[in-house]
Amino acid sequence: MTIAIRPRALALGLVASAAALLGPFPKARAQDAATKTAETPQAKPEAARPDEPSFARDVAPILVANCVDCHSAGRQGVKRGKLEMSSFEKLVAGGPSGPGAVAANLDESHVFLRVTGDEEPRMPLTNDATLGAKAIAAIEGWIKAGAKLDPGLDPKAPLKSYAASLEDVARARLEKMAPDERDARLKEAGLDLWRKADPSLKPEMETTEHFALFSTLPKERATATVKAMESELSTIRRALGAEATDWPGKVCLHVFPDRAAYVEFQRTVKRRETPEDEEGDADLKAAQPYVVVVAPPDVGETAVVAPRRKSRRRRGADAGESGARSLPGLLTEHLVRAAVLASGTPPRWLAEGLGVYLANGVDRGGGAYQDLRRAALGAFRRGWATQATDVLGGGEGVAPEEFRGVSFALVECLASPRYRSVFPAFLKGMREGGEKLDDVVRKVYGVDRETFLTETGEWIAASYGGRR
Ligand code: HEC
Repeated sequence: MTIAIRPRALALGLVASAAALLGPFPKARAQDAATKTAETPQAKPEAARPDEPSFARDVAPILVANCVDCHSAGRQGVKRGKLEMSSFEKLVAGGPSGPGAVAANLDESHVFLRVTGDEEPRMPLTNDATLGAKAIAAIEGWIKAGAKLDPGLDPKAPLKSYAASLEDVARARLEKMAPDERDARLKEAGLDLWRKADPSLKPEMETTEHFALFSTLPKERATATVKAMESELSTIRRALGAEATDWPGKVCLHVFPDRAAYVEFQRTVKRRETPEDEEGDADLKAAQPYVVVVAPPDVGETAVVAPRRKSRRRRGADAGESGARSLPGLLTEHLVRAAVLASGTPPRWLAEGLGVYLANGVDRGGGAYQDLRRAALGAFRRGWATQATDVLGGGEGVAPEEFRGVSFALVECLASPRYRSVFPAFLKGMREGGEKLDDVVRKVYGVDRETFLTETGEWIAASYGGRR
């Protein structure tokens, strides 16, 4: 049985675009909605001065998350409320009760009056929800400061577009800077992050066009690592699409000498405790995007930048026993996973699977690869359809190694020669609006989910040696 690849899907077989990774899995969506509150603005903070209220950064995300849907054409907020929030201009102009916002005048700003409940009915007009104190304070602060739109943004554009526009503004600002100035700023930002982990550490910075590596590694290893990352970037771009890898400025790669520094970094920067098996992390949405890892033992990484054949022989032996990743492999894994996650709300397995898949490319086999295959094969033996379905559905209750193994195997299968031509279409399909996995599978591979699982399971059994 072979999956019937449709010619139409083949025609889409170009490079997957970044946004292609927006995933429509119901579970991932539900989790996302559950953690989204009025107080987590999604816009990026780079463009506005941190000390001044910014509509795009502080207010638009609140309105987009809580108000815009209902206050758009055909919905209650427009039909009954006669207030359209399709643009900044319309929002400020307001409705029959009066203007939405008046500079420095809270008593005449009906958006404010409605969210505080000073004017009834209180907004958002949903049964249980009111805005949190922080969200209300953000609206208040913006009105008091003049109820302006950030300079350079179009008042007729949809409110939703401002988050993306802010990134453009940040990018434009960076591009205007002289290279020296840019590097000085980068160094400052990078060292600042390091100090939070351990002020006594004195890292060196090694840069390439897209990366700045901060570490206490021997210079030779640091240089080899950052060069390996630079050359890996084209592979990552090809796999994820240019947009997912188009960060303003360089990405900082922080390599800590020990776990204690890493744990402290997570505690001070992310304000969270580090799970026991965690080896790295990344945040590409931060004002200064970064990847952070604990340096693994050197497994002969200079070989990674050496010609392919030679490195395969050397690395296979070194990494094979420990199951460890090389440093470039580890950095790639976390960079890719974060890039996929930052490009929308993709299912977790896809981010995880692509991360380890591309990291394996860097390490060319080795112990980590063997571990993943073993985990996937174990899942196959226990019943692929059930195990894979758990992972595809969000992976709740699935052991971490198994989740990684199955996610990896799915990506490796879908990127293998037999299915490779439609993998970009698969990614693209996952992006396009609210579709379920079943729909995408049917459209791209021309089969139902059951057949899809049978086929991928068979591929895994055949490739990883499960057949007896
Ligand atoms: C579930 C739909 C819904 C949501 C969500 C919603 N609104 Fe409304 N809104 C309405 C309706 C309906 C009215 C008209 C209510 C009335 O006065 O009878 C209204 C009226 C208003 C008015 C007064 C318009 C005028 O000039 O009379 C303002 C201002 C307003 N909403 C702001 C907001 C803000 C800000 C949010 C988000 C925090 C929000 N709304 C969320 C449905 C909604």
